[in-house]
Amino acid sequence: MEDLDESDLDPDPFGQFARWFAEAQASGNLQPDALALATATPEGRPSLRLVLLKEFDARGFVFYTNYGSQKGRELEANPLAAAALYWPELHRQVRISGRAQRLPREESERYFRTRPRDAQISALASRQSRPIESREALERQFERTATRHAGTDVPLPEEWGGLRLSPDTFEFWQGQPSRLHDRFRYVRQTAETWRIERLQP
Ligand SMILES: Cc1cc2nc3c(=O)[nH]c(=O)nc-3n(C[C@H](O)[C@H](O)[C@H](O)COP(=O)(O)O)c2cc1C
Repeated sequence: MEDLDESDLDPDPFGQFARWFAEAQASGNLQPDALALATATPEGRPSLRLVLLKEFDARGFVFYTNYGSQKGRELEANPLAAAALYWPELHRQVRISGRAQRLPREESERYFRTRPRDAQISALASRQSRPIESREALERQFERTATRHAGTDVPLPEEWGGLRLSPDTFEFWQGQPSRLHDRFRYVRQTAETWRIERLQP
């Protein structure tokens, strides 16, 4: 493992993330885009699940989900969220925290159109995170939805779309065999500038 020094870091954390993400994609990792996403109720009860990171740029990190799901409802009431990615092949972790906001509906629509038809039907047929009595009932919902839209485009579900997590802090963690790991935190100072500090492992 190479040491990570401040002089190796991009002053822009999105640039740093892009570099590490490209290396993770090239590392043989089967799911480098798996993002552990933590949300919390306004009372502070946390919940955590994996989602897929679909795109990122200087505005933030985008994933798609059902707005009526547990995460969707929690983010509606409390937009503060945190996320982490782990790339064991590189012994690297990235942490992000900030606020999540819904994408404009046209952007969600554009992404929805790129999904396979079965995935579109599943998104429309499933009221994510709400209980259902059986697998059979779930399959009936799927079949009914498929029949209803046979031969036409599957409409973008009312409660499905993207969320963008806009970070105000990042942490880049580079594991070291000595266990004296390298950690750098970026804290947003202004819209364009970040303070970088080394953290103890
Ligand atoms: C690797 C992986 C990727 C996943 N990607 C997504 C995703 O992009 N969007 C999504 O809504 N759920 C995704 N899921 C399912 C979520 O982990 C979770 O079960 C679901 O979103 C409901 O979460 P909630 O009840 O906390 O809202 C993924 C699960 C795994 C294991």
